[in-house]
Amino acid sequence: MSVSPFPSSAPSPHRRRYAIVGLGSRHELYQDGIEKTHARWAELVAVCDSNPGRVDLARRRSAQNGAHVPPGYAALDFALMLQERRPDVVIVTTSDSSHHDYLIRAMEAGCDVITEKPMTTDAEKCHQILETRRRTGRHCRVTFNYRYSPPRSQVKELLMSGEIGEVLSVDFHWLLNTHHGADYFRRWHAHKKNSGGLFVHKATHHFDLVNWWLGAVPVSVVATGKREFYTPAMARRMGLSGPHQRCRTCPEKDRCGFYMNLEASPGLKSLYLDNESHDGYWRDRCVFRPDIDIEDTMNALVTYDTGATLSYSLNAFNAWEGYTVAFNGTKGRLEHSIVESVYLNGTETVQGGVVEDGVKIRVIPLRGSGYDIEPWSAEGDHGGGDRLMLEDIFLPVPAPDKYLRAADERAGACSILVGIAANRSLETGAIVQVSDLVGALPQPDYAPMPSRQESLPMPMRPV
Ligand SMILES: NC(=O)c1ccc[n+]([C@@H]2O[C@H](COP(=O)([O-])OP(=O)(O)OC[C@H]3O[C@@H](n4cnc5c(N)ncnc54)[C@H](O)[C@@H]3O)[C@@H](O)[C@H]2O)c1
Repeated sequence: MSVSPFPSSAPSPHRRRYAIVGLGSRHELYQDGIEKTHARWAELVAVCDSNPGRVDLARRRSAQNGAHVPPGYAALDFALMLQERRPDVVIVTTSDSSHHDYLIRAMEAGCDVITEKPMTTDAEKCHQILETRRRTGRHCRVTFNYRYSPPRSQVKELLMSGEIGEVLSVDFHWLLNTHHGADYFRRWHAHKKNSGGLFVHKATHHFDLVNWWLGAVPVSVVATGKREFYTPAMARRMGLSGPHQRCRTCPEKDRCGFYMNLEASPGLKSLYLDNESHDGYWRDRCVFRPDIDIEDTMNALVTYDTGATLSYSLNAFNAWEGYTVAFNGTKGRLEHSIVESVYLNGTETVQGGVVEDGVKIRVIPLRGSGYDIEPWSAEGDHGGGDRLMLEDIFLPVPAPDKYLRAADERAGACSILVGIAANRSLETGAIVQVSDLVGALPQPDYAPMPSRQESLPMPMRPV
């Protein structure tokens, strides 16, 4: 539980001043967090975006939140915004490949920064962020909300407790269903130059979880990947004559299972459709377009400095959404899975229906019977993780955290560099050493794991 350092509900006289750059759907979490939940100690002093329509919308959101309406700035006026509004912290929620530009300029101007995942999309930009952070001494936070989801924190607790001893290998398989998975093929994510592909954009969450769960730093990566589902050929195999340009004008919208109706969703309409004229950002491009260059099927083998190995897969066209992960330890095996109920704006449904009881945690000792463990739970988005993360970010004195879930640029680098190495491996077919990308990786802060001595199993007789 978080403890308030202030006696009354009146705003603190020393509220931290925040600016947000990138005013799409994800920024809403932070704007509402500042203006509604944490208004006593946080204040939004400026908003900035390349799309003037979304700047206006964010300002209207402030009015709806009952907050002071901050001035809005065009992307080209970012430096002016820093100069005029003097934020303490800049929150970066633009599309992935532009994060580095704002992070670097804000740190150079003396601000702390908070960035959405992935921290950035390639090794050169990652190097520039690490170097600027070192030189300026500013604080850089990467918001890995998945760490805060209660069952994933519980897995961390079990591994820290030594329940299965030392983890020697991990099998981790993540599935995106065709509501959520398809959405990455509709817009900017569909091009590697914008997102780094799903090995970076999406898998940064997953690689960060493994790095943090194990308290380890990745060493080498070899990968395979292909795009075989979101293709023009697949559209024709499904009996469509397309691909076409976008859902809104699609002549086959009544026949296509991937049709997205932007007008049916007030949120999508006001955020994207109503602002298309400013920048041509179509939120509903055809998922079968030939120009897409990201993979929909990926596998990677990763080695870590602890000696542990990871076998990972990501599939973006599945019937259900969620994951299975298994840790093979010196004292036993920990199995964990989640079937997620992903709601997607514009379809107004959950693919496969809402799943109750979708979280499983099971320990199987080397000797003796396996047992299920009641999963921890909390209310809210991303399994309650978003709310806990916002408290950790905005409270003036966050609750002590034995799992060290707050991540900085070191953890941000360790996760994206696995995906960046995987991309390089796709190009070359070779095993890629992570240290060849940006030099020696800085060790993130990890909570202590059981020692090797504590992790030894009881001597066992042959059976
Ligand atoms: N942690 C999570 O679970 C989670 C969930 C969703 C999105 N995200 C991340 O949040 C970020 C934003 O995602 P989103 O879904 O809101 O995308 P979005 O497309 O809805 O919004 C991006 C916004 O940034 C603006 N923008 C793009 N390039 C810009 C630039 N160079 N300068 C200024 N503004 C620019 C766009 O106009 C748009 O308003 C991404 O990095 C994404 O990976 C994280």
